[in-house]
Amino acid sequence: MEVVIEPPGVIAALVADAVEGLLAAKPEAVLGLATGSSPQAVYDELARRCAAGRLSFARARAFMLDEYVGLPADHPERYRNVIDRDFAARVDIAPGAVHGPDGTADDLPAACAAYEATIAAAGGVDLQLLGIGTDGHIGFNEPGSSLASRTRLKTLTTQTRADNARFFGGDVGRVPRHCLTQGLATIMSARHLVLVATGAGKAEAVHHLVEGPVSAMWPATIMQHHPHATVLVDDAAASRLQ
Ligand code: F6R
Repeated sequence: MEVVIEPPGVIAALVADAVEGLLAAKPEAVLGLATGSSPQAVYDELARRCAAGRLSFARARAFMLDEYVGLPADHPERYRNVIDRDFAARVDIAPGAVHGPDGTADDLPAACAAYEATIAAAGGVDLQLLGIGTDGHIGFNEPGSSLASRTRLKTLTTQTRADNARFFGGDVGRVPRHCLTQGLATIMSARHLVLVATGAGKAEAVHHLVEGPVSAMWPATIMQHHPHATVLVDDAAASRLQ
């Protein structure tokens, strides 16, 4: 696992460089998309480069990591809508090329199985963008998640719901309790994992990710077993590294 410690602006540029390089070599690349705060500067930079003609997503496809269950289809914080707003609408990716688990499905286990099949049919993910939760989750694989898990229904921890209340007007009661998430084994199947973490609130999780033993109680630690994982952190997020 490669650990890069740089200011947030440099991190966004480095991740955009990796995406740009991938698209230059493989225009039909399959990207894995995270939501939340961590990838925002990356999406800003990718939108800027796309507008400047430096890269094109026209032949690319993308798969989201996770989705809330229980939000109406038009809810602004439904991850599908967040990704459309923050990424898809700002670049030249084709309509229909961005996929996500269907948190509105009547049959959620069937929706999870269908999502796994769609990722496999696309040939798997070339580059997976990740953030990390303060409790060490990637995707929404909360502590205790099976290291062999695939896309499934999960219950969000109290910690994660409190962390995400900022997207719901500060009201934790409005944060859904359940989600669909790619499993840890699904994430580990991507060919390159790129995790971004900034701010002191991520320092403990980053410490476990990089220096802790691999444990389901800090799910991101599974990344230590990935052959090509890059962790980009700022000074604050790196502050508990030895
Ligand atoms: C979001 C996701 C989560 C977030 C994590 C960090 O799709 O999968 O793992 O990356 O909760 O969220 P932020 O970046 O908002 O701190």
